[in-house]
Amino acid sequence: MNVQRQPVTGAELEYPRLLSPFTLAGKRLKNRIVHAAMSTRYGRNGEVTQRFVDYHVNRIKGGTAMTITEPMALRRGQASDTRMRVWDQDNMDGLKRLAEAIQAADGHILTQIQDPGRGNHKPGRKMKALGPSPLPDDWSWTIPHAMSTGEIRQMVDDFALSARKLKAAGFSGLEISGGHGHIFHQFLSPWSNIREDAYGGALENRCRLIQDVIEAVRASCGSDFILGLRLPGDDGIPGGVDPDESERITRYFAAKSQVDYFCWVQGSHARTLDMHLPDMHWERGTFFPLIKRLHDAANGIPCGAVGRILEPAQGEALLRDGIGELVMMSRTLLTDPAWGLKAAQNRDNDIRKCVSCNNCWGVINLEQPLMCDNNPRAGLPDEVDWWPKPAAKKQRVVVVGGGIAGLEAAWVAAARGHAVTLFSASSELGGKTRLNALLPGCDPLSSIYDFQQVMAKKAGVKFELGVTVGVDEVLALAPDAVVLATGSTMAWPTMLPKAWQDEGFLLDLRAITQELLLHPVKQPGTAVILDMDGMDGTYSAAEFMRDKFDRVVLLTPREAIGRDEPLVRQQSVYRRIYGKRIDVQLLSEPTAKSRFEDGVLVYRNVINGDEGEIGDVALFTYATPRRPNLEMQGPLEAAGVTVHVVGDAYMPRNVMAATQDGHVAGNAL
Ligand SMILES: Cc1cc2nc3c(=O)[nH]c(=O)nc-3n(C[C@H](O)[C@H](O)[C@H](O)COP(=O)(O)O)c2cc1C
Repeated sequence: MNVQRQPVTGAELEYPRLLSPFTLAGKRLKNRIVHAAMSTRYGRNGEVTQRFVDYHVNRIKGGTAMTITEPMALRRGQASDTRMRVWDQDNMDGLKRLAEAIQAADGHILTQIQDPGRGNHKPGRKMKALGPSPLPDDWSWTIPHAMSTGEIRQMVDDFALSARKLKAAGFSGLEISGGHGHIFHQFLSPWSNIREDAYGGALENRCRLIQDVIEAVRASCGSDFILGLRLPGDDGIPGGVDPDESERITRYFAAKSQVDYFCWVQGSHARTLDMHLPDMHWERGTFFPLIKRLHDAANGIPCGAVGRILEPAQGEALLRDGIGELVMMSRTLLTDPAWGLKAAQNRDNDIRKCVSCNNCWGVINLEQPLMCDNNPRAGLPDEVDWWPKPAAKKQRVVVVGGGIAGLEAAWVAAARGHAVTLFSASSELGGKTRLNALLPGCDPLSSIYDFQQVMAKKAGVKFELGVTVGVDEVLALAPDAVVLATGSTMAWPTMLPKAWQDEGFLLDLRAITQELLLHPVKQPGTAVILDMDGMDGTYSAAEFMRDKFDRVVLLTPREAIGRDEPLVRQQSVYRRIYGKRIDVQLLSEPTAKSRFEDGVLVYRNVINGDEGEIGDVALFTYATPRRPNLEMQGPLEAAGVTVHVVGDAYMPRNVMAATQDGHVAGNAL
């Protein structure tokens, strides 16, 4: 292994600002790198788990100065299985253990004060919710219980009491989660707050709840306790908190000078949920111009910039440009806990980069422990700058397939000391992910196979590219084990005649996309995509086609598009598909009555059978459930070879499953 482990110093530092120390509430931060709050769902029975400790401590060990945890249960009513209790004594040992480990690693830890109020990211209405006014959440249409002033006071007292407990446990501070459509935001926004008492109406009144909390926490914890304030910068809701209102709110709190830092997040619920975590279709440093404007309204109070900061150079530049004093990242540090360490060692190429796919959010919204597409070791104890352990016995391993599952298996196995040969039918590595990465806004996907290639090179994988191998060629290498990463193929849509498949005039979306990428000419007429996929790649292809055809129609037998993406991503799909005027025909499928030779597609409603037509069809293609390509498995096993099947070849799923499978297989060899 040739990974350079020594930090570089002084003039050699590539990112001097990023790595320079900073002081908050009298506490020294070793650099400007901050882990922004991220729900991990690593708690169990409301208690701190070792995985939760490992996750945060590993970020600090990996070069992060300060980490902000997900909101904890600072009040009795907030407890859940994964939300860790602070309000009772039971959990103090866990909290202390966490804080001590963070301090020992030269870091600081904060948690968030948050209550979702009426907000709900799950289907259906909440059975219990507090809020400023009885107005519906725009996603779940939950109407909260409008809090009385007594209930508000109680909430503030509860927060202050728990804050003191956290300080006693060794936490360095707290961040008030005042954005993202949660309860503080609901009080701040005239759209959700129509109270007529001291907590509603004028800006000062709408800010009062947060101000009460600030004062109560200061009174219980003193001035040497970091208190951060996360505010909405632009919630995207008409009549809500827009940048002008955010600037006024920022000035209000800045004038009080009682918080140690500000940061701003965007979006609310439902229609603007995607602004919480801008996905790969949003530009890097998504909200920097807005953050700069709000930073300049902050009266010199330090500010954190957050939102699609992927690379150390971006962090360095934002500090240089006065956008913030702190570089706050959540998904980036989930993907590579050693991001800071690698930046300090001038090892940018070794950084495993966030894809901004938001599958992490999808996982936690299903109440599952946090995972990452491009970090198969998220939350494991040995995550920081991980390199595989040597295998006890060196083997000859053949990997068939150069997609991300095969590549992951190949580099990990080679790094363990095995002699690995990887065959890829394509002359380029990355498989279907590479094709997707060529679609509009999808280039961050390349960071998965780019990283894998860098590692594979270090580990000594032997590549045979542009070679389609059969069983005989594989057996000729006398492998001890074979990893089959042969992917999958979109199935023929069975509602259409089989004869049409045999005639071969209708091709699946992947084949068509490849063709259109090679010959990117504009064509008249309508392109129709049968969407039985529900995932981002199909919508990115639709966007791509929108520039090539007069009209694009997505035809789906489902009741919604984008259903297999996490809710945040679904919102982003809607924003793009409806924004680009791509037509969507729901609950519909094509029929054999279609006359493609005349440019006519006949579809039927899958519920009532009613038929309709789409005319001027220049292209029909299908994105359907995929079938594993497993032709080689039987013969190889019959020849006595141990076969590991990974990725889509095992079971067609998503990128996260592919990297996981490959990683596990590489480690198991
Ligand atoms: C899985 C996930 C969980 C998150 N949980 C929280 C949270 O508990 N509190 C919060 O304020 N923000 C949360 N966020 C938002 C992040 O703090 C951050 O604002 C957002 O992800 C954009 O930053 P990034 O591009 O560095 O990921 C979460 C983001 C993700 C992806």
